[in-house]
Amino acid sequence: MSFKSPKDFFVPLAVGAPAPLREIPARPSRAIHFFDPSNPKMVDKIPQMVGTVDVLLGNLEDAIKADNKVAAREGLVSIAKATEGLGGQSGTTQLWTRVNSLDSPWALDDLITLVTEIGDRLDVIMVPKVQGPEDIHYVDRILAQLEARAGLTRPLLVHAILETARGVANVEAIALASPRMQGISLGPADLAADRKMKTTRVGGGHPGYLVRQDPVDGDIHGARTVFQQDLWHYTIAKMVDACAEAGIYPYYGPFGDITDVVATEDQFRNAFLLGCVGTWSLHPKQIEIANRVFSPSVEDIQHARRVVAAMGDGTGAVMLDGKMEDDASLKQCLVLVELAEELSKIDPQLKELYATIEVEA
Ligand code: GLV
Ligand code: MG
Repeated sequence: MSFKSPKDFFVPLAVGAPAPLREIPARPSRAIHFFDPSNPKMVDKIPQMVGTVDVLLGNLEDAIKADNKVAAREGLVSIAKATEGLGGQSGTTQLWTRVNSLDSPWALDDLITLVTEIGDRLDVIMVPKVQGPEDIHYVDRILAQLEARAGLTRPLLVHAILETARGVANVEAIALASPRMQGISLGPADLAADRKMKTTRVGGGHPGYLVRQDPVDGDIHGARTVFQQDLWHYTIAKMVDACAEAGIYPYYGPFGDITDVVATEDQFRNAFLLGCVGTWSLHPKQIEIANRVFSPSVEDIQHARRVVAAMGDGTGAVMLDGKMEDDASLKQCLVLVELAEELSKIDPQLKELYATIEVEA
């Protein structure tokens, strides 16, 4: 077998389709807020949410009843056409969708209808239950054909959900499968079922998954601290590496316990610290948490700017508060500073907050 030449990855997969992007734009996507386009109560709220959340995602897959699949697809088309500022090149809030899984009776019509009707407004298509690069190749070619037919000038991007054991095994190949790949999210609920984990929750920890302190004075029944462990650490870390390697973006996924805002924040922060750029939001409450957690804190930026100022041309090492800083810590600080700059472009409150930070000498 001969390999595809690297330059051919940037040739459109259908005559007349837009050229693939060479770099995925770093658009802020701290919260991807899911809504059901067949639910009139949720749809009514969409116009006023534009500008308050980085991404609105019209969900067509799980959580939408079979009887409502067509209504959800059509509802999304109407919302995209009618809502000012939502999606497309000039949108202040990105518009994404999650289509039905590729083996379902709805996936093909989801793609045909959405690209044909609102391809110029949609930014990213989330594909669930991706098993391997072949799923991305399938979507890649169909999108090119549909884009050509619709006369689109901007390629649609693809986001995969990591929610099958085989998908996790193939995550690097999935991340590298197409120049359309924008990012990958963890799908803890389907992944738990597919792996036959013995949990019944949507994301988060489990009190049974723990490590216990050694017995004190040999008393195994005495009081011992237990530490709950993170069920998702391995998968998120693997996903982050695959995304970084491919130059695309990793995300946490759903956290189902809407009332437990404290544990939600913990899970989101773990993902942020490990390298994720955002998460899903299943309730307006989670948008505020995600926006806060996935934006660098004032303390982070204060410290990062101090290191940048102290390091000059970036070579050598300096001591700040008894800690050694060198090229590698400078690079970490630049990740935070650059993220703050990107977020300042779209979030006036953050812009003001970051602007007031004074850097100590
Ligand atoms: C998301 O789709 C999940 O299955 O967790
Ligand atoms: Mg799922």
